[in-house]
Amino acid sequence: MKTKVLAISGSSRKDSVNKRLLEAATAIARTQGAEVNILDLRELALPLYDGDLEAASGGLPEGCIRLKQAIREHHALLIASPEYNGFFSPLLKNGIDWATRPQEGFPSPFPGKVAALLAASPGALGGIRGLPAVRILLSGIGVLVTPGQMSLPLAQQCFDEKGALINGQQQKMLEGVVSELLRTVRVD
Ligand SMILES: Cc1cc2nc3c(=O)[nH]c(=O)nc-3n(C[C@H](O)[C@H](O)[C@H](O)COP(=O)(O)O)c2cc1C
Repeated sequence: MKTKVLAISGSSRKDSVNKRLLEAATAIARTQGAEVNILDLRELALPLYDGDLEAASGGLPEGCIRLKQAIREHHALLIASPEYNGFFSPLLKNGIDWATRPQEGFPSPFPGKVAALLAASPGALGGIRGLPAVRILLSGIGVLVTPGQMSLPLAQQCFDEKGALINGQQQKMLEGVVSELLRTVRVD
């Protein structure tokens, strides 16, 4: 059975450097034999989590159910997030929070999943300061986060016109993160 990977960017911005890094990682994972699907959080149109809204609607929003099902149907997560003031993005946090909300027939899809983390930024640190918090959050909800991760500094200069990383060392690092993810997943 092929390993199924769900790729999620913490930025849905049209020219997002995190989307570009995620797409480069996706290409590598496909080359290494995985099936990868990219999920755009913006398309789920999730409201900002609000317990009153959840109670009043008498169930989870449709986008939340879609997100939970998508996570459940994949073995692994490949997550790229921008860094906002040293933290990961509210878009990603809101999506994860919604996906952990219980509803009969739709338990939290996270326990037992494996995830690898990426970050990209036009800045000099590449968004790395946001990743420890993603690691803590995911670990706390039952996800095994692989030790390897990658942050990409000056990211707007790093891709060629086909979306591939120009720098061979960065490409190798990304290949390492992806292969560690695929090695760690146990597909029964
Ligand atoms: C509110 C806000 C805070 C930001 N804080 C940081 C930061 O702490 N470190 C950093 O490297 N970039 C920071 N940036 C710049 C983002 O890295 C940049 O906008 C990046 O392009 C966002 O990722 P994206 O291209 O995937 O959308 C910040 C941007 C915003 C809007």
